[in-house]
Amino acid sequence: MPIINRIAEFHDDMTAWRRDIHAHPETAFEEERTADVVAAKLAEFGIEIDRGLAKTGVVGTLKNGDGPAIGLRADLDALHLSELNDFDHRSTHDGKMHACGHDGHTTMLLGAARYLAETKRFQGTVHFIFQPAEENEGGGREMVKEGLFRKFPMQTVYGMHNWPGMPVGTFAMRPGPMMAAHDCFEIEVTGRGAHGAMPNLGIDPVVVGSAIVSALQSIVSRTNDPLEAMVISVTQFHAGDTWNVIPETAVLRGTTRSFTPEVQDTIEPAMRRVIDGVAGTYGATAELRYERRYPATINSAAETEIAARAAAAVAGPDKIERGLNPSMGAEDFSFLLQEKPGCYIWIGNGPGEGGCTLHNPHYDFNDEVLPIGASYWATLVELVLGGGEAAEKLYK
Ligand code: NI
Repeated sequence: MPIINRIAEFHDDMTAWRRDIHAHPETAFEEERTADVVAAKLAEFGIEIDRGLAKTGVVGTLKNGDGPAIGLRADLDALHLSELNDFDHRSTHDGKMHACGHDGHTTMLLGAARYLAETKRFQGTVHFIFQPAEENEGGGREMVKEGLFRKFPMQTVYGMHNWPGMPVGTFAMRPGPMMAAHDCFEIEVTGRGAHGAMPNLGIDPVVVGSAIVSALQSIVSRTNDPLEAMVISVTQFHAGDTWNVIPETAVLRGTTRSFTPEVQDTIEPAMRRVIDGVAGTYGATAELRYERRYPATINSAAETEIAARAAAAVAGPDKIERGLNPSMGAEDFSFLLQEKPGCYIWIGNGPGEGGCTLHNPHYDFNDEVLPIGASYWATLVELVLGGGEAAEKLYK
């Protein structure tokens, strides 16, 4: 595979960086040490640094003459999860772990930054965006809100995620929706508590809540266009404390997924209608709290084609899946793609054996992938800012 030779030469360095970050995981908006490590490396490479967007965000800017500007984004954060690996670079922070491979993402972008700063085979500006709090907390949204694109004008922006289950040396992408929109909800059902032996004296919120769980699925199967993806999952049902008491209330929580803003817009009003109707049928009341979290991650067509060409230049055209089925998972790179055209791709991390996939307590980013991902970033920059043919010529 024609990974860039110079990048292959510092594979060992990248492996050491990645393992150091893996051993020191930090979660949403607390990525202080990780941001320090990133900023120190960028400074060492001679790249201008800005810190503090979304608290712990770091943006490195590398300019070489006049030309367009491109943004490349990696996420810095880890998960609240106890690592079960016992290798030397396992987490040293209790209850925190890089189980989504963001340690690899950060390292691949650092590797590309080092190479691009050394070689400068492009004309224009590269912004290396190191973003906090991808998991749950919307660090991408915060960076955009705090002026990422005002402070660092750029025409396009690109993201990448490692994907276990895809072989090393492969990439996958698609134009249009790539990852789903993600919302959260909480439903509080209020009935009337009673003795478990005398249900006729109360209004049972467990029965009402159960009916709501079932009825919500009719939105997906009967209200939504069957050609449009939608998921409504009730993932929590809390009620009662003992055997013989019908409780007063029940609390249900869950998540919804969709691929378009139009479908996403229909979910909350439909849920409200169903919940009110079902609760009323039983003489109970129910309150819905619905929170918009992440929009869908939608790749623009032209930039997806460019990303596919860059990936093909690195991995070979037969190792690129351009028509990937989208995932119902969510990703806050979506907030960046709402503002600028761009493309979010997946890079193969190997087989993910024994169910060892993302967010698993045994997960570990595959260090073999580091030079492949860094080569993709570098090639992409040379394609976009290098006149269009540089990458293919360089890495045949
Ligand atoms: Ni992730």
